[in-house]
Amino acid sequence: MAEEDRQQHDGLFHRIWRSVFRGPVIPGNDRDRRWVVFNTLLLHFRPTQVPERTLRYTHTFGLGGMSLVLVLLLFATGILMMFVYQPSPAAAYDSVTSLQEDVLFGRLVRNTHHWSANFLVGIALLHLLRVYLTGGYHTPRQFNWVVGLVLLLFILVGNFTGYLLPWDQLSYWAITISTAMLAYVPRVGERLQQLARGGPEISSATLIGFYTLHTTVVPAVLIAVSALHFWRVRKARGVVIPRRPDEAVEDKPVSVLFLPNLLTREVAAACALVAVVVLVSVLCNAPLGAEANPGMSPNPAKAPWYFLGFQELLLHFHPVIAVVLIPLALAVFFAALPYIRYRENLSGVWMMSAVGRRAGIAAVVTGFVVTPVLIVADELRPAPVDLSSGLSGILPVVAVLAVIAVFVFVLQRRLALPKEETVQALVILMLAAMVVLTVVGVWFRGAGMSLAWPWEIGG
Ligand code: HEM
Repeated sequence: MAEEDRQQHDGLFHRIWRSVFRGPVIPGNDRDRRWVVFNTLLLHFRPTQVPERTLRYTHTFGLGGMSLVLVLLLFATGILMMFVYQPSPAAAYDSVTSLQEDVLFGRLVRNTHHWSANFLVGIALLHLLRVYLTGGYHTPRQFNWVVGLVLLLFILVGNFTGYLLPWDQLSYWAITISTAMLAYVPRVGERLQQLARGGPEISSATLIGFYTLHTTVVPAVLIAVSALHFWRVRKARGVVIPRRPDEAVEDKPVSVLFLPNLLTREVAAACALVAVVVLVSVLCNAPLGAEANPGMSPNPAKAPWYFLGFQELLLHFHPVIAVVLIPLALAVFFAALPYIRYRENLSGVWMMSAVGRRAGIAAVVTGFVVTPVLIVADELRPAPVDLSSGLSGILPVVAVLAVIAVFVFVLQRRLALPKEETVQALVILMLAAMVVLTVVGVWFRGAGMSLAWPWEIGG
């Protein structure tokens, strides 16, 4: 029977199926049809054509797509673990050890979940950096930048809520330390801390709360907000097109078909990423310490690595500055970046201009050199160091503001930097400083959070 005749005799279900997934009757042999069917379904999500210049791998490094692949890996492995995991202090730890030891591929599934989550934090941050440095936040992508920041926030919430679930010493005390930071928020700190913990201490209420957020709220928000993110990318006609500073924005860029040009690249990159994550998961186990013991704190007790930059700040600044003012100022500053008045639409221009690039390099060098110097200087300054009072609390703030002022002054004198490039240099300086603070927090803080060499810290 011809395809047209068959369609006429199909029942209601087949007609709906055909109209949703297959589109119109397609002439040609079976192989051609399969391609077009595939194409038709896919084209509901992806564009038919993409600008040729955006295909170059080094333009986006595929970081947004990689983030999506990791989110999907997290969903798949997370669902598998939910068949075994039990969210109660009495059973959580045993259910994790039994997952690792008694369930076929249980350890691999847990490792893959762990590494995907950690890679996602790093890759989403690199994606943010790429978008920023290629001016991907200018009109018409301003709102999508803010949507991306919301995604980043929920990636962190997902990581943080998942951290407690194994209920081992590491997770118990990391969450104790991190939620204790909330108490520093003026006036509402205590209440915020109680809200996060579901009571005054980390308890079964905390575990149930974190489990619910981790397995329902965070995934639901990630799905909804990612959908919004991708829709905005499509509305902006794909990713920003790379161009030189003296080149105008192209109205009708040379384009190529999405299939096979972009799709094959995306599938290849996704396969390579999954292979790397699985390889790391086979070679390196996700950490699992002894079962949580609320009566015995490890020394040092550290927050999860992505919060260690802020824990490091706590050692130098007044707690309100470290835990409230700096994170709040960073959030407002990053959300406001697309809405600053720029001299022109700089989308697609790598680091705005040649002078912007030079200032960016100066910012990285300054951040990497000055931050460790300030950390060591603060450590060596004469005791007593009571950060919550008088000069002790103000001195580090003055030192940091002085560094920023000198940095901007020198850039102005040497490079006559325009306002936009100055803001960019400051963003890079802040990110470089945050990297150093995190590295110091992870590898150079030993017992009592004192400075030490990594090989002296052990364990
Ligand atoms: C789960 C996390 C995220 C996923 C899955 C994701 C995914 C993507 C994808 C697939 C693209 C297009 C291709 C590419 O640029 O590689 C994209 C573009 C974009 N993303 Fe994200 N992203 C995430 C987080 C973020 C974050 C944290 C930001 C920054 C605040 C951000 C801001 C943007 C913007 C502004 C664009 C358009 C940029 C351009 O046109 O060049 N995204 N994202």
